[in-house]
Amino acid sequence: ERLPALLRLMPKAELHIHIEGSLEPELIFRLAQRNGVTLPYADVEALRAAYAFTDLQSFLDIYYAGASVLLKEQDFFDMAWAYLEKAAADNVVHAEIFFDPQTHTARGVPFETVIKGLNHAVHRAHAELGVSAKLILCFLRHLSEEEAFATLEEALPWRHHFIGVGLDSSEVGHPPSKFERVFARCRELGLHIVAHAGEEGPPAYIVEALDLLQSERIDHGVRSLEDPALVARLAAARTPLTVCPLSNVKLCVFDDLTQHNIGALLDAGLCAMVNSDDPAYFGGYMNQNFVELFAAQPQLTARHAYQLALNSFEASFVDADQKRVWQ
Ligand code: HPA
Ligand code: ZN
Repeated sequence: ERLPALLRLMPKAELHIHIEGSLEPELIFRLAQRNGVTLPYADVEALRAAYAFTDLQSFLDIYYAGASVLLKEQDFFDMAWAYLEKAAADNVVHAEIFFDPQTHTARGVPFETVIKGLNHAVHRAHAELGVSAKLILCFLRHLSEEEAFATLEEALPWRHHFIGVGLDSSEVGHPPSKFERVFARCRELGLHIVAHAGEEGPPAYIVEALDLLQSERIDHGVRSLEDPALVARLAAARTPLTVCPLSNVKLCVFDDLTQHNIGALLDAGLCAMVNSDDPAYFGGYMNQNFVELFAAQPQLTARHAYQLALNSFEASFVDADQKRVWQ
């Protein structure tokens, strides 16, 4: 059984990780105590027991509750540092990390507090762990485009601290078209563009993300296979799909890992790769996703593993010189 060792040891990039989704129950309780926040759960076990999700929204409700313990710059540092240490242990050499500022600014936490704490961890990870990490600001799609514009305005003094913008939270009913103007402004600012689409939403949302937002990658995108014309387009353009196997099972997008379509996405010539999404909530970090996926699908071989790792670097926003080193 050499395949699990290969999966664990191969260098890889992680491109779909919500930093608030890396907040482990133990750290949630430690920060709650440190900050005097009262949680509606008695202890770590009671909180973990609530992690039984039926769909995206049932997860988001608990995910936003968990983030309520984050108040100080040190809290954001501690959360990001814990993730980056785990990433390094999984041989993730590069991470592009989502953060949700509106989850925090809505509670009165200044944008500055969030970005400074995360940025400190990113810089320290480069120096001490050898992990290169970048930040991507996500707009919450259940909120208005006006609120996204206000968040962008607050973020502009910190423009050099993040490389792009994304779109996350409740997908169905909040299509990419709702955010066309704010993403146009982000493109003018030279920001990279990504968007969650085709997780629970239809393939038409992926088409909107491409046509209206000019999204450079699609986060999830697993429902693209329902639209053959879209698959041909994604393959021709090598548009990356940042796929998250354990997430898709925990949120009931697929019944179990044997049903996951990542093998079919690769066979269709798509630039798909493995990511952890919200590892503290979905049962594991990068290597756990790889090992469980390959255990569930014996048709996946070392060749697939190599392709997934290669795709992760191809899809990253690092410069061409660094890509040559990694690929
Ligand atoms: N989908 C949408 N929004 C999210 C997710 C996700 O998987 N994780 C955190 N916010
Ligand atoms: Zn996600």
